Amino acid sequence: MAQNRSPMETSPSRFRLVILGSAAGGGFPQWNCRCAVCSLAWADDPRVRRRTQASIAVSANGRDWALVNCAPEILSQLQATPALHPREGLRHSPLAAVLLTNADIDHVAGLLSLREAQPFTLTATPAVHGVLGASSAFDVLAPEMVQRRPVELGSSFDLVEGVRATIFPVPGKIALYLEAREQAEKGVLTTDMEGEQTIGVELTAGGRRVLYIPGCAAMTVSLRERLEGADAVLFDGTLWRDDEMIRAGVGTKTGARMGHMSMSGERGSIEALRNVKVGRKIYVHINNTNPVLIDGSEERITANKAGWEIAQDGMEIAL
Ligand code: MLT
Ligand code: MN
Ligand code: ZN
Repeated sequence: MAQNRSPMETSPSRFRLVILGSAAGGGFPQWNCRCAVCSLAWADDPRVRRRTQASIAVSANGRDWALVNCAPEILSQLQATPALHPREGLRHSPLAAVLLTNADIDHVAGLLSLREAQPFTLTATPAVHGVLGASSAFDVLAPEMVQRRPVELGSSFDLVEGVRATIFPVPGKIALYLEAREQAEKGVLTTDMEGEQTIGVELTAGGRRVLYIPGCAAMTVSLRERLEGADAVLFDGTLWRDDEMIRAGVGTKTGARMGHMSMSGERGSIEALRNVKVGRKIYVHINNTNPVLIDGSEERITANKAGWEIAQDGMEIAL
């Protein structure tokens, strides 16, 4: 229907990015949460909007699309995005590739819903492929249909026609469901290691450069340098403050323990990127406890004043 179409579909050959989902693990509101922010959403308070778990879709030609991460809500995200609807013959999808930034449930569970014998390329680091390979549920992605492509840290490759991707490590940790075994085997759990378990993605098309970093435990000199001059940076917006979940009474973990740097504070991302020149700074992967989700909140105003936008589902960025 005409009213569903975004105006940008009339100019197909631009670098386009659609934020399919903007929430952190659990979504917003989270199914079992009555924290102050989720309570607003359950009450349909107009100051908040519901959000699905984090994923973006990118295209340079408007025809072929790639996902970065594949959230549990992939079906509703595809249904809500006309550019990703099937267009030809009886079976078709514009979706040609999926790239994973880690093995977290909010980033991989949607793959289980892409099992209807549709070909695409599944790209991740060897470590993340190892995690998927150890779980036979992912064998629903038949090997003759879904090509699993391991790529090394630091390498660049064509993600989808016209979009070049470069992957690089960012401080982070292994997926939550791997923690118990890791701790049993190694006796320690590192939450800010740089390796294959958590990566950032640099996407370039038509001379434009965008970074997607939905999980990052700390800012490093090399990361800051990489962000400098980008047309847009979509960055880990999990928590406003490190002890937010504890203060909200819904958890015992800090952001640091979960592998996420916070927005606020001396070591937060607002401060870390204050003097980094970037076309657009956009928070993604926002946890349901984060008060920036509330229109007009003090935290939202502070983030906006510091030049940050708060992503919402369906947001399009044309570059
Ligand atoms: C995270 O981003 O920390 C994870 O998605 C948490 C989780 O798996 O629930
Ligand atoms: Mn997550
Ligand atoms: Zn909540």
